[in-house]
Amino acid sequence: MAGKTYKIAVIAGDGTGPEVEAEAVKVVKKAGELFGFKLEMKDFDWGGDRYLATGNVLPDDAAATLRKFDAVLLGAIGHPKVKPGILEKGILLKLRFDLDQYINLRPVKLYPGVETPLANKGPEHIDYVVVRENTGDAYCGIGGIMMKGTPHEVAEQCMVYSRFQVERCLRYAFELVRKRHSSKNPWRGLKPEDVKAGKIGQLTLCGKTNVLTYVYDLWERAQHEVGKEYPDVKLDYCHVDATCMWMVKNPEWFDVIVTGNLFGDIITDLGAITQGGMGIAAGGNINPDKGGISMFEPIGGSAPKYTGMGVINPMAAICSGMMMLDSLGEAKAAAAIEKSVMYVTANKMKSQAAGKMGYSTSQVGDLVVANLKK
Ligand code: IPM
Ligand code: MN
Repeated sequence: MAGKTYKIAVIAGDGTGPEVEAEAVKVVKKAGELFGFKLEMKDFDWGGDRYLATGNVLPDDAAATLRKFDAVLLGAIGHPKVKPGILEKGILLKLRFDLDQYINLRPVKLYPGVETPLANKGPEHIDYVVVRENTGDAYCGIGGIMMKGTPHEVAEQCMVYSRFQVERCLRYAFELVRKRHSSKNPWRGLKPEDVKAGKIGQLTLCGKTNVLTYVYDLWERAQHEVGKEYPDVKLDYCHVDATCMWMVKNPEWFDVIVTGNLFGDIITDLGAITQGGMGIAAGGNINPDKGGISMFEPIGGSAPKYTGMGVINPMAAICSGMMMLDSLGEAKAAAAIEKSVMYVTANKMKSQAAGKMGYSTSQVGDLVVANLKK
């Protein structure tokens, strides 16, 4: 039987976005050849150059257009000639909201051979996932400013969460714990008494219940209520400030972390640097509902100063392609990409930093393709 064909929208974006995206496309297409599925790519020129030329950030029917695809690959958004905020809000955040991509999935996994700034920590210590809620919080757009530019100006930007938003995000996170660990193979961070009690993994809520006594109280109550449906998952809680500390000192304590949009934004940059930096950290903006369209991207920005030089690291984009295949149901192909990436980081690349990899951008993509095996 002929394999499936997936329609993928590619928004390569600004700066080095197109260079890294080309490598991601190369790798996922090769995976398709090996594992018997096809990927049909269509490019969209949405980004800073189009905005500067037309004055339009996104076409009005952008979300409707993307709904005709199976998934979206995004390179990077951010242009040195465009005021910060316009493209980020107008493209990235708008698509996340319009496509209701309510999960921002950000694995923090240190691959072999990759340098981490954390002393005495290796791949066996740094392997967890952050589930960042992706639609609410201070990102919701509620707020405003009055008497702007006067000594009396007042600015307000509200942290808002509905029970519905919190619950669907928590449910996704609980399911992810189950996906990560079968009951026969519980997460190694569990204590023997937890394993004896039938737990297979742990869900840490990262919050701030000591100050944000409305919003994170809602999260915590919801975690405990939804948690009753997941007796195999150990419930854990950590304030966001302490989470930052433990992510540096004892990252092996984490399995799956779930948190709101703003805390999630902040802690995932910290997580990214512990796994080797923006050259390798990938994420997915996921709408897990039936028919939902998800969008995968490197966590880092467009790094405009490196544009066209062939020195930028494509691993983050390649790993976002791997996450895309996994979400499309091509788990074996995704696992094969990860295996190849790990081979290349362990045996080939000198560093994950731009210009220091020992290879050019396209050579890194070629290495991942060459080591991809069924
Ligand atoms: C991210 C980015 C975005 C965010 C910006 C560019 C709007 O920092 O994806 O983490 O804050 O979500
Ligand atoms: Mn961020």
